[in-house]
Amino acid sequence: MAMSTVRLPQGELEKALAARPKHVFIAGASRGIGEATARLLGEERNYRLTLAARSYNRCLGVAMDIGTERANGLRMDLLDERSIDEAVVSAESRFGPIDVLILNAGINLPTAVDDLSVTARNAFKQVLYINVIGTFYLAQLVAQHMPQNGRILFVGSVMARMGGAGSAGYVASKHAILGLVRTMAHELGPRGIRVNAINPGWVDTQMANEVLTRMATERGVTLQQQTSEMLSGQPIKRMAKPQEVASYLKFLMGPGGDCVTGQGIDLSCGSVMI
Ligand SMILES: NC(=O)c1ccc[n+]([C@@H]2O[C@H](COP(=O)([O-])OP(=O)(O)OC[C@H]3O[C@@H](n4cnc5c(N)ncnc54)[C@H](OP(=O)(O)O)[C@@H]3O)[C@@H](O)[C@H]2O)c1
Repeated sequence: MAMSTVRLPQGELEKALAARPKHVFIAGASRGIGEATARLLGEERNYRLTLAARSYNRCLGVAMDIGTERANGLRMDLLDERSIDEAVVSAESRFGPIDVLILNAGINLPTAVDDLSVTARNAFKQVLYINVIGTFYLAQLVAQHMPQNGRILFVGSVMARMGGAGSAGYVASKHAILGLVRTMAHELGPRGIRVNAINPGWVDTQMANEVLTRMATERGVTLQQQTSEMLSGQPIKRMAKPQEVASYLKFLMGPGGDCVTGQGIDLSCGSVMI
């Protein structure tokens, strides 16, 4: 049978692409900031959401709460290139090209300078692999088909602005993200793609809880003491809520982000002022 091609008049393809719901891929959507972002975007009907992490069941649970016609859960492990390949193919075949990529997945393991144990060296590699190498590979794959006016949003950290004893791997990974943001903004800007990072300070999630518990144990103080000491130097003396980070990501996805690219934007209750 002969195939015929329908040609849209000039500009119509762009209009059709702009009118369709936006496809947002969230890496690390199983809990914390990623889950909060999925739920915030899920309140509106004009998004199609791919929710990816290692915990497939949790991603699927969030997708089911939102509605499976608008959200899909996927298993993806940033340590495994094949699973990243499969996640992108599966996301694009379900909801089309990805308009917004939120690179939120990350880990923070102890990596002290004076710890030469195999465990600590492996932890350093794992943090760099997940937070930087796997994350960059995912961004490269998605950028290939990302339409004009697309957005790539990293969730970095204020640790990109300073050092942190005991966390060489995590600190190095978050510095590296700013390098990626600036480089990708240059390369992808001519295609209309904006690339930025949000740099949160303390955010009330499992990760913050684990890090603060580790610090409290090392110092022999309670978690409450450790937490209030950490927050005492901030002008706003509390942790951010995951929903507050989600709101900022959503802002950057909209017209408010149109002329912003190559930036690391601190969201830290004032713990960092640059
Ligand atoms: N909480 C804070 O105080 C804080 C401060 C600054 C920056 N951040 C950054 O914010 C981002 C989100 O952190 P969070 O606080 O929401 O932490 P979280 O609750 O621990 O969530 C981390 C997310 O990353 C996913 N993830 C971890 N390893 C992965 C892997 N190998 N492949 C795919 N996904 C993986 C986790 O899902 P699975 O375990 O299911 O894979 C989870 O969805 C991170 O990049 C973190 O560095 C957090």
